[in-house]
Formats: sequence, structure tokens, C-alpha cells
Amino acid sequence: MVKLFISSLLGLASLQGVMAAPKVYPEVIPGPGMPSLAELNVTSAELYQMGTPEELRARAQELDKRFTGKCGPAEAAYTNVNDIIACYNYLRNLGTKSCVAAENTVMCTAGKAHVYGSALNGGTSSYCRDVAHGVLWVINSCTRPNQSCAGAQAAYGNGNLIATAVNVKW
Ligand SMILES: *[C@@H]1O[C@H](CO)[C@@H](O)[C@H](O)[C@H]1NC(C)=O
Ligand SMILES: *[C@@H]1O[C@H](CO)[C@@H](O)[C@H](O)[C@H]1NC(C)=O
Repeated sequence: MVKLFISSLLGLASLQGVMAAPKVYPEVIPGPGMPSLAELNVTSAELYQMGTPEELRARAQELDKRFTGKCGPAEAAYTNVNDIIACYNYLRNLGTKSCVAAENTVMCTAGKAHVYGSALNGGTSSYCRDVAHGVLWVINSCTRPNQSCAGAQAAYGNGNLIATAVNVKW
């Protein structure tokens, strides 16, 4: 009886331990001029926890064929896929807002990853959700068993805007 009481006390204590120490997520930082998380009414933690929706996974296979997606290209470009997923969710949540790319325009930084857009024709833009779509291709195609990921793919429907998701130090 006493033993049972003690073990349930311990159980309660460890439960409180879990609740008192929520997982800390890196901050998701919009690129210069991009809408803030407050404007989007989302938090960094939410962007990390949204995951990648199943219905978009299938669509990621039907990307614009004008640009062939690439993984890597080098070991140093790789970073944790969860940071890339947070940026993917940020861009996807921007919906039909315009994501403008010049030579290499940083659109989002999260943890050790950033996503930038590169215009192959000097300057171009797409709906941010279409840029996110290129990032989703990278997540689905370039993630290795140890959760490291890096790559580049065109925005949906715009072969001139290449979304690259890599380590911030790359
Ligand atoms: C922001 O999100 C919270 C939680 O999802 C919701 O309760 C609230 O109504 C939202 N506010 C606006 C202005 O959309
Ligand atoms: C992840 O796995 C790749 C091979 O798939 C390896 O080259 C790389 O060093 C690993 N990275 C880490 C951080 O373990």
C-alpha cells in the first residue's frame, strides 16, 4: 500500500517534470521584409509541430519539370530536417502572399537551417505556398536516415525561382 503510494507519487512527480520543462524550439525568423510570425498568428513552436501534411506529400511529386531538384550538394550543406520543416510551414502559412526572389534572397531561418530563393532570370516571385512546395520536395527527397537534409527545387509552377534549403553556414 505504502509502496504503491510512493510509486504513484513518483509518477506524478515525473509527470510534472515533463510539464514543467516543455520542449524548446528554435526561433523561426522570417527573411528581410517578410511577414512576422505575429502577423501570421503562429509561434515558432507551432511551426515546428505542424509537420508536413500528407496531402501535400503526394503533390510534391508533380513539380514543375523545368528544373530538376537536387540534394546536397555537399556534406556541409546538410542540416536537421526539422529546422527545414519549420521554414516550410512558415512559407506555406503565407499562402498566396508574394515571395520575391533576387539573386539569393533569404526567406526564412530556423535553428541551423535557412531557405532562400534564387531567381534564374534576375528577379521573380511566386506565391509563398508555391515556394514552400519546392521546399517540400527537398524534405521528401533529400532527408537521410539520420534526419539530415539539404537540397533545392523550383517553386511550384515557376522554373525561374529555385528554393534552396540548407545549413545556415553553407
Ligand atoms: C490566433 O490564434 C489563436 C490560437 O490558434 C486563436 O485563438 C485566435 O483567434 C487567433 N487570432 C487571430 C487574430 O486570428
Ligand atoms: C548523416 O548520414 C550521412 C550518410 O547518410 C553521413 O555522411 C553524415 O555524416 C551523417 N551526419 C550526422 C550528423 O551524423
